[in-house]
Amino acid sequence: MGNYTFACIMVSAQIDVTGLINAGFDTCEKLSNKLQLSRKGMELFVLVLRHLGYISLENNQLRNTDLAKQFLNKNSPYYWGEVLLDPFGIYNVNHLDKKILTSLKLEYELECKGHSVTDMWQHDEMDNDSAAAFTHLMHSQGFASAVSAVQHGAFNDVSTLLDAGAGSGTIALAFCDAYPKRKALLFDLAPVCITAKEYIARFNKEEQIGIVKGDFFKHDWPKGCDGICLSNVLHDWKPDTCSELLGKAFTALPSGGSIFIHDMLFDETSLTPGLFSFHLFMNHGSQLFSATELSQLLENAGFRNPLQHQALGYFAVISATKP
Ligand SMILES: C[S@@+](CC[C@H](N)C(=O)[O-])C[C@H]1O[C@@H](n2cnc3c(N)ncnc32)[C@H](O)[C@@H]1O
Repeated sequence: MGNYTFACIMVSAQIDVTGLINAGFDTCEKLSNKLQLSRKGMELFVLVLRHLGYISLENNQLRNTDLAKQFLNKNSPYYWGEVLLDPFGIYNVNHLDKKILTSLKLEYELECKGHSVTDMWQHDEMDNDSAAAFTHLMHSQGFASAVSAVQHGAFNDVSTLLDAGAGSGTIALAFCDAYPKRKALLFDLAPVCITAKEYIARFNKEEQIGIVKGDFFKHDWPKGCDGICLSNVLHDWKPDTCSELLGKAFTALPSGGSIFIHDMLFDETSLTPGLFSFHLFMNHGSQLFSATELSQLLENAGFRNPLQHQALGYFAVISATKP
């Protein structure tokens, strides 16, 4: 039955149940009339959403719970629609079994317009539309944890933060919001920077956040920052490539500067969150790391004093310092 759970949330995003309840369509009858859908079906569908914690019933009226307000409301900064509307067809249950088998044979297969996303990243070949779709999706998935990481103080001692492989700049946006006098730089492939610029404008952070277009494999990394964050980046690559990226970060930082890895962590048994790690394998041939594995990668790159900071859910930040 697990397949239904995610599919029901996807459909809820498609027909915007949260927005309709907000707009006053707060009974099953009103919802089914508005959407021209089966009344009986709507009652059972709403029951599923109530069980999942997105809707509550008060005095016979449907109410959006805090969970729905945070993640299913189009106006929330943490709206998950970009994931749930599934622009890459990742969660399409009709082909998930084939995708799993193909991935087990080929190692990775997340494709955009017939090309592997990982290949496009490695050879700087991503087109603007694919970059925008992927960047919106990542923002949806990661911004809430970026805010949480900043709120938990992971970046307290940083004055200028380089968000490398920044995407929309989730970490830089949260950082600059919490510390209005500090600055950040986003570093990503040119097509991604077009979308990043839109996020900087949306958050009114033009004064604090700059953008450097570049390929983090081939180009020199921007210098002059005392902190570098790799948010949801290392999980896209195999360990050798991660070591290469950490070496570049080490070179770009001054002595005393810090590296920050914001990512979901495997627990020390490498059992949880196993599905997300398998998802990464299917998309990129990559994996999650545990805190111990990340600390080891950081120490091998020359960093010292690895520390773990809290973020949201399975996410955490591992920081370390360049001696
Ligand atoms: C999974 S996304 C993470 C985005 C963002 N940091 C976040 O947490 O939402 C990985 C990012 O790495 C960037 N990236 C991949 N290959 C790159 C390259 N060769 N040079 C620079 N950035 C790259 C991608 O464009 C993408 O924005």
